[in-house]
Amino acid sequence: MTGAFVTFEGGDAVGKSTQAAALQAWLQQQGHDVVRTREPGGTPLGEAVRELVLHREWAVAPRAEALLYAADRAQHVATVVRPALARGAVVIQDRYLDSSVAYQGSGRVLDPSEVRRLSLWATEDLLPDLTVLLDLPAEAARARRTGRGYDRLEAEEDAFHERVRLSFLRLADAEPDRFLVLDGAQPTDVLSGLVRDAVAPLVAPLLS
Ligand code: TYD
Repeated sequence: MTGAFVTFEGGDAVGKSTQAAALQAWLQQQGHDVVRTREPGGTPLGEAVRELVLHREWAVAPRAEALLYAADRAQHVATVVRPALARGAVVIQDRYLDSSVAYQGSGRVLDPSEVRRLSLWATEDLLPDLTVLLDLPAEAARARRTGRGYDRLEAEEDAFHERVRLSFLRLADAEPDRFLVLDGAQPTDVLSGLVRDAVAPLVAPLLS
């Protein structure tokens, strides 16, 4: 028996965690076994990687950064995601390999297809059943971030965030069956309803 793997993607501050939390509550009400997790993080090794890549003073070379995210992902998939899917759980995850392709591949240094290959190697080719992309222009996302502490990546210019955004949209175009692209400017409850409509057919077989 296998569960269902749903990931949320998008730029910083587009509302991913709000939507992930709403989906989790809805699925649990129906009696699903739900595992909600995130990358980077989600395991002790992952939390250490998170500290290394997000909260440090020194520069990390682009290839080192890509490898750190891939190492986090390898550990997370092997010890959390695959075991949960194997027992029939629904895994709801904040960020996955598309984030690596969009962020590490948007610095104009690494080839996005190589970054993707690295993640697929790290995870032994695990792709989500559904990826919800919350799309928001860089300027609107920055307005939402104001007042929140900036980490290093968040402090980079809007131009970088706009490249990341376009990269996510290209990924969605390339895999229309896996992606649900939503306009992140819509009200929270409208977005939650659209997410539920897409998830419902995936999870229905898990309870029967
Ligand atoms: P996080 O605090 O989770 O941001 P958010 O709340 O916006 O999801 O920080 C994650 C940051 O790490 C985010 O700026 C994107 C970046 N990231 C990568 O660059 N590559 C990756 O593979 C992942 C998973 C995240």
